[in-house]
Amino acid sequence: MKEELLELRQKADKDLKELRLPEDIERFRVKYLGRKGLLSEFLSRIPSLPQEERPVIGRLANEIKVDISKRFEETTRALGEKQPRTTIPIQDVSLPGRTPPIGHRHPLIQTIGDIKDIFARMGFQVAFGPEVELEYYNFEALNIPLDHPSRDDFDTFYLDDEVLLRSQTSTVQIRVMQRQKPPIRIIAPGKVFRPDTVDARHSFMFHQIEGLMVDEGVNFAHLKGVLTLFARAYFGPDTRMRFRPSFFPFTEPSAEVEISCTLCKGRGCSVCGSTGWLEILGAGMVHPNVFKAVGYDAEKYTGFAFGMGIERIAMLKYGIDDIRLFFENDIRFLSQF
Ligand code: FA5
Ligand code: MG
Repeated sequence: MKEELLELRQKADKDLKELRLPEDIERFRVKYLGRKGLLSEFLSRIPSLPQEERPVIGRLANEIKVDISKRFEETTRALGEKQPRTTIPIQDVSLPGRTPPIGHRHPLIQTIGDIKDIFARMGFQVAFGPEVELEYYNFEALNIPLDHPSRDDFDTFYLDDEVLLRSQTSTVQIRVMQRQKPPIRIIAPGKVFRPDTVDARHSFMFHQIEGLMVDEGVNFAHLKGVLTLFARAYFGPDTRMRFRPSFFPFTEPSAEVEISCTLCKGRGCSVCGSTGWLEILGAGMVHPNVFKAVGYDAEKYTGFAFGMGIERIAMLKYGIDDIRLFFENDIRFLSQF
């Protein structure tokens, strides 16, 4: 009996050393330690042994069983750690699925949204006009007759003699005033097109936001107040602003508005050409001829208008040094916003 036991232990030792695969482990467990395994079978024979042998063999058999169980556990644990995970594919069906990458709004659309929010707080409503526009709205109604030299400044893509891609959002001023009477307070964001040579600051398609306020008694101080509030809200409370005399056919007087350079805080750097100032928009008091074109009483009403380039504003806000980045669809650029 004793020899039989020791032989069993030797065989188990040898089998243990050969364990490799998960199937082998289970087969070993069933063969030696299972309910009908070799050890159980052995133990079940003890009661039939002679009285004096039972305690000795019984104790030895138990010791061997405990010993084999212990080393079996150690071996399986060691094997489990070595086993590459792919051997036992575990699928956790309760895990959430893999989310496909979702995009977000383009930085220019975000910029338009931020600007709209600021003007909305001052009571401005949003208006839209067509991108494919009649020559009349882009020029004539804005006091730019055919022979006017400033048409050269607004070089334009024509589709035929009367239809063009609008070169400014000022077209929306006319469309809104034709539809409704004062008081008017609108902003009009959208795409505009100009056959400009593309470089770091110019694109043949870009975005503008037009502003228009018309009522009795609107004056230049209102224009300054509204634009100053905007600049401080959008670029920060320390932003300074200046108005420089300029010319637009549809405003009189006209101004070009500059803010203190956001990058160098006005000290002068390469982006502002060492001047400390950056142009963000054109503006002025609505010309009486424009009111005449839409049938408003120019004696009764006054108003101001402005038009800003969205790309330039976003470039200032985020320190972007090339306008082409907005249109190249490079995910490395876009995902930063
Ligand atoms: C205008 O287009 C006038 N309609 C603005 C205006 C509205 C004046 C109402 C008075 C009253 P201007 O051509 O300067 O003005 O263009 C306005 C802004 O558009 C510029 O300040 C600049 O920020 C931007 N801009 C002009 N050309 C380009 C271009 N090729 N690429 C990108 N931005 C441009
Ligand atoms: Mg200009």
